[in-house]
Amino acid sequence: MKFFVDTANVDEIRELESYGLIDGVTTNPSLIKKSGRDFVEVITEICSVTDGPVSAEVIALDTEGMLAEGRKLAQIADNIVVKLPLTLDGLAACQTFSKEGIKTNVTLCFSANQALLAAKAGATYISPFIGRLDDIHVDGMELIQEIRAIYDNYGFDTEILAASIRGPMHVKECALVGADVGTAPAGVIKALVKHPLTQAGLDQFVKDAAEAGIKV
Ligand code: E4P
Repeated sequence: MKFFVDTANVDEIRELESYGLIDGVTTNPSLIKKSGRDFVEVITEICSVTDGPVSAEVIALDTEGMLAEGRKLAQIADNIVVKLPLTLDGLAACQTFSKEGIKTNVTLCFSANQALLAAKAGATYISPFIGRLDDIHVDGMELIQEIRAIYDNYGFDTEILAASIRGPMHVKECALVGADVGTAPAGVIKALVKHPLTQAGLDQFVKDAAEAGIKV
């Protein structure tokens, strides 16, 4: 499973890149707002920090507007993925971009039927939001499973990009049910490495190495 980091904070992306932990980046208008920076400026900088796919979301709600904004975003760098909302207009834009070879991420997916439509429109990625479903007492992981089954039934190439991941358990469950990608905040990705027995074992080895005077 690939890991994307869900952030518009360039320092976080640089740090995760330095550990070789991420395969790409996703952003959304709320994350851009949180960064306090100009949209095009921050997306351009992110694309200079990573070679992986970088999702940048359109603001327009009509197909023509989405096409204009998406084409502008696609010119920023080769690794731009145009993020489109799961609406009729978004699906129409997705279909056009697919024919033009522009990569797309269809976002705000909350049902298997929406995911089926996105795949038929030629989406590169579909983003089901697990955490936001869990927030309203609906099992987000069940949606990932359903989409996996549907895409496998018909051999769709669209990658399942599990989004709105809130913690390490979401990551493990996504990997178990076969999501292609998981996008999560930097803190969640860094938390994956932690285990109390790893730390306790390391502390003991460091102590014993010092007491034995081990040198390499
Ligand atoms: C994905 O592309 C979205 O940016 C993101 O995962 C949304 O997560 P949230 O529900 O935690 O805001």
